[in-house]
Amino acid sequence: MKIDILTLFPEICRAPLSESMMKRAQENGIVDLRIHNLRDWTKDKHHVVDDAPFGGGPGMVMKPEPIFAAVESLRNEKSTVVLMTPQGKRFTQSMAWEFAKTEHLIIICGHYEGIDHRVIEHLVDAEISIGDYVLTNGAIAAVVLVDATVRLLPGALGDDQSAVEDSFSAGSLEAPQYTRPAEFRGWKVPEILLSGNHAEIAAWRKKEAIKRTGENRPDLLDK
Ligand code: ADE
Repeated sequence: MKIDILTLFPEICRAPLSESMMKRAQENGIVDLRIHNLRDWTKDKHHVVDDAPFGGGPGMVMKPEPIFAAVESLRNEKSTVVLMTPQGKRFTQSMAWEFAKTEHLIIICGHYEGIDHRVIEHLVDAEISIGDYVLTNGAIAAVVLVDATVRLLPGALGDDQSAVEDSFSAGSLEAPQYTRPAEFRGWKVPEILLSGNHAEIAAWRKKEAIKRTGENRPDLLDK
């Protein structure tokens, strides 16, 4: 899979996508990730990327020209163009699975008060928000989308099964996990997990997963 991120802040994306599993996925050729500075597609001396909104109002709006130039230089017939914006559809695990099936993602990171709407009307395939809050810009949101998507690519996780068993992929949150020591400060690991009885452990996990989902995310059980 190939991913191009277009941002005014490449460094915000660089560090989190250069560590651990994302680093390995790139080294192993599972993803070809490129982080670009949108200003590289400006044509004026001062590399201007924003301007005042028509009709007035606070803040600045991202200009269309550098964004169109960047996407048109990077895209091919197989590209999906995504805009990170708090105005977008809320990102979910099932969207991550859909993005993981695409061959080429171009991710535009919004900034300032907004983006010229012609970008959305004529260039973008999907507007995506990572949640109901406003970040200073879309670069952090793009990192979230890339991380959640790339870890689903075949070979990215050491054990492919673990992506399928994730919270949300399974329709509920995950059951509690424990590791050694079996007793810590007098708190014991549930006996069943030490029993070696795989059927009973699976049943316990299922029950605990539903209990935890009811406590933390009852909306998931309603579905
Ligand atoms: N840019 C600012 N806030 C955002 C959000 N919640 N999701 C995606 N992009 C954003």
